[in-house]
Amino acid sequence: MEIPAMREDVNRLWPEIQWIQNSKLREQVLQTWTKALERSPLKAEDLNKIPFTLLIPNCPITFMEHKRCVVHIARKSAESMNEFMGRALPVNVDAVIAGAILADVGKLLEYEIGPDGRSRQSERGEALRHPFTGVALALECGVPDDVCHIIAAHAAEGDQVKRTTEAYIVHHADFMAYLPFKNPKNVKVKD
Ligand SMILES: [Fe+2]
Repeated sequence: MEIPAMREDVNRLWPEIQWIQNSKLREQVLQTWTKALERSPLKAEDLNKIPFTLLIPNCPITFMEHKRCVVHIARKSAESMNEFMGRALPVNVDAVIAGAILADVGKLLEYEIGPDGRSRQSERGEALRHPFTGVALALECGVPDDVCHIIAAHAAEGDQVKRTTEAYIVHHADFMAYLPFKNPKNVKVKD
């Protein structure tokens, strides 16, 4: 597939890209996702079908449902932080939105579809989890370091890093939309 069609795929997957006010950053985010799709064994439509994590058996929520939820939580959190504490702890909302949209872009290089039609971790994914491949893709597209920091530090590896406020917000938004699934009693729909 040629790149313009893939850019359209990304715009369909991610209406939230339009929330990014800085046009340069908006373009860099769009380019990063487009590049990831070009190189991925997954297709755009797979992201509306595959579970968002391999760590929960029979996970009922798709990759895109989870990722978009995290972006929405992160933006609202950033706005509330600015409203009440921005005087002392200013939050860059554009960086939060961009970082949340890009946090899992590396999963396009971490996953593959196995012979049973289900997603699984690829050999590359085992060597380089998605925070690492995500940063590599984003840097290639000119994404600035403060946003790459959010990608790098969003998951458990980031516990070893001194996170920025923006990275804390995305990390907690991501885990808020993940950890409840680990208690099976919380999950009402099994499939
Ligand atoms: Fe992640």
